[in-house]
Amino acid sequence: MAMAKMLLLVAMALVSSCSAWELNIQMPTKRLQAMDETVAPLIHALRPLLGSGGELGSRGGVACDSWVLGVEAHNVRDWKTVPTNCEGYVGHYMLGSHFRRDSKIVIDEALAYVETLKLAGNGKEIWVFDIDETTLSNLPYYAKHGFGTTLFNATSFNAYVLEGSAPVLPETKRLYNKLLKIGVKPLFLTGRTEDQRDITVANLRSQGIYGWKDLLLKQPGFKGSAVAYKSGERQKLQDAGYVIVGNIGDQWSDIIGAPEGARTFKLPDPMYYIG
Ligand SMILES: *[C@@H]1O[C@H](CO)[C@@H](O)[C@H](O)[C@H]1NC(C)=O
Ligand SMILES: [Mg+2]
Repeated sequence: MAMAKMLLLVAMALVSSCSAWELNIQMPTKRLQAMDETVAPLIHALRPLLGSGGELGSRGGVACDSWVLGVEAHNVRDWKTVPTNCEGYVGHYMLGSHFRRDSKIVIDEALAYVETLKLAGNGKEIWVFDIDETTLSNLPYYAKHGFGTTLFNATSFNAYVLEGSAPVLPETKRLYNKLLKIGVKPLFLTGRTEDQRDITVANLRSQGIYGWKDLLLKQPGFKGSAVAYKSGERQKLQDAGYVIVGNIGDQWSDIIGAPEGARTFKLPDPMYYIG
């Protein structure tokens, strides 16, 4: 009993001390309770930190840590929702320190790559940034919608986007600011649509993001895949004489399809898939 109490305290401390990387995410109490009841709360909160195996994850269905790895490696594709039994796993991953740690590895590698660049400094060198789950985080929305376990709802998601309240991803901001400093121009290439330009600009600015070279949004009537859209836009940039020294996104569709950019970086995103 005393042991259980102690574990509970440790788990609570872990969850609250690194809670959503300074985000103030309001989860409906009922959903939090449901998460904790169905997904073995105490050990589950500790699992991502201790790296302790998959038995709990597989009890209710899919082994969630293996599923996330499959997603990140692009072996698992075209999925519509996070497996129902992984809501707790993905929730703890995103809200705790694990997501932040994984993102830090990506950005540290990107910064190490930046250090090796021999820049021409001719104003033509750009770095392509995706927006959602790369520069801005929609975690406040997903925390209220099952962390991707429910089907994407364009109506409610777009209403959230129009609030313009998405927090910046702190690791990405580090890279963004470094590039500005050394004269590589950040450029946004997003699946957000042209009608969301004003709110997107306002949201970025409210999060301290300034000085981008361009913000490319999807034009009305575009029907192709995300890969076709994004690679097509990168081709146009290249044709206009820009050199894409780097490209970062949370989806594989951000970083595949020629021209990809001289180097690509993939941030973690176990909440949704865009093909
Ligand atoms: C999508 O969200 C809207 C707005 O919250 C809601 O009215 C609608 O019922 C939702 N649709 C589905 C299929 O859940
Ligand atoms: Mg994205």
